[in-house]
Amino acid sequence: MARTPIYFLDGKIIAESGDVRVYDFEGDVYLESGPGHVLWTISRELVAYEGQVARHPRGACLEVGLGLGICSNYILNCAGVEALTTIELNPDVVKVYKQLNDVDERHTIICGNGLDYIIQTRETFDFMFFDFYIVIDEDTIDDLKAYVSAGRRILNEGGKIMAWWDEFTPDEFKDEFFNLFDGEGI
Ligand SMILES: C[S@@+](CC[C@H](N)C(=O)[O-])C[C@H]1O[C@@H](n2cnc3c(N)ncnc32)[C@H](O)[C@@H]1O
Repeated sequence: MARTPIYFLDGKIIAESGDVRVYDFEGDVYLESGPGHVLWTISRELVAYEGQVARHPRGACLEVGLGLGICSNYILNCAGVEALTTIELNPDVVKVYKQLNDVDERHTIICGNGLDYIIQTRETFDFMFFDFYIVIDEDTIDDLKAYVSAGRRILNEGGKIMAWWDEFTPDEFKDEFFNLFDGEGI
């Protein structure tokens, strides 16, 4: 069977499953899925996760979008985090994560659609982080509205819901995005 063409020709592939590939290139790690060579994550985004997610994770945490698992690993390292459930749509993304990482015993990775999981689960959470998109636009905001509304029903008292803020988002979406989270800035 013909392989999906490689986009980052200069990178060294360090993990691969189906059309999902992880590259090491000049000290950064990239997660790409084909055939549209979607670039989902770059390891240097850890700095942004540290700034945005900060010390909010605690207790039982839920995350949508595994990617390279940079944020998962960050959440698991936060003090007071007892468990993390990550929902990831693409089984190959889960496979490459497992090729590159030992899964923490507190970490449950479920392959599926994040919104479906939130609507169906009987679990409740103290912290939720949604990061299943590449850009913030009208469609993403609509999706996030559904996630936040469903998420509030399984949020423990005093819990917090957050989503990835892309600093390159056009200004027109900024208020709408932050208003989803009670206007709270990240
Ligand atoms: C931007 S990446 C997440 C990056 C991740 N936070 C990290 O630290 O590397 C988005 C991920 O969400 C996944 N995804 C997209 N739509 C999804 C959905 N509806 N439910 C669950 N995962 C989804 C993608 O396959 C991709 O792995």
